[in-house]
Amino acid sequence: MVKKGLDKKRYDRVAKFYDIFESPMELLAFSSWRRELTKNVEGNLVLEVGIGTGKNIPYYKNWEVVGVDISRRMLERAVKRVKENKKVVHLIQADAESLPFKDGVFDAIISTYVFCSVENPINGLRELHRVLKKGGKAYFLEHMRSESEFVGKILDILNPLFRKLGPEINRRTAENIKKAGFKIVEERHLMTSIFRMIVAEKS
Ligand SMILES: C[S@@+](CC[C@H](N)C(=O)[O-])C[C@H]1O[C@@H](n2cnc3c(N)ncnc32)[C@H](O)[C@@H]1O
Repeated sequence: MVKKGLDKKRYDRVAKFYDIFESPMELLAFSSWRRELTKNVEGNLVLEVGIGTGKNIPYYKNWEVVGVDISRRMLERAVKRVKENKKVVHLIQADAESLPFKDGVFDAIISTYVFCSVENPINGLRELHRVLKKGGKAYFLEHMRSESEFVGKILDILNPLFRKLGPEINRRTAENIKKAGFKIVEERHLMTSIFRMIVAEKS
């Protein structure tokens, strides 16, 4: 069941422009981070949560992927990327906070720049933990509150402005991942600690 929340409306609205807005950061860093994040993902059945316009699809390997997103308009854009890249991807409109899957069905999970938007991030992360196999890994690329108190305070001040457009920029996502039951096995700080690549395990 899809929640008719703010995030859905926000991303439906920006879907048309999302790839253009993001292109400078994509060129500068995101595309190489996406490649890096996905290179060690293993398994037959992989879940991508908040797949958006499908920017990770070119980096998928020989996996069967289920890609979910709350925004239908973002998913419509992802359809094109699936076709262009000839990958096996099942796109489903669903809320990360109530995933329509049984417990422990996915070998691995990918999520990039999503938990800054999900309304109740710990609920969403608990859902990821639930649908992941025991011993499976979740791969995150997220921006979050900096570990520097000075930068963190600036992000707190700017956050209401960013939230109007989409994401929150001062979430404590690494802590939220742990609160949801995962064990962080790798954490890389990118551009200080605002961006982080995190690999977390369901033990
Ligand atoms: C900043 S975009 C990132 C898209 C894509 N992962 C990427 O790396 O380009 C955030 C995405 O998360 C989706 N999203 C936000 N809240 C969600 C939720 N509760 N459940 C599923 N998707 C959600 C949005 O619709 C949007 O497509």
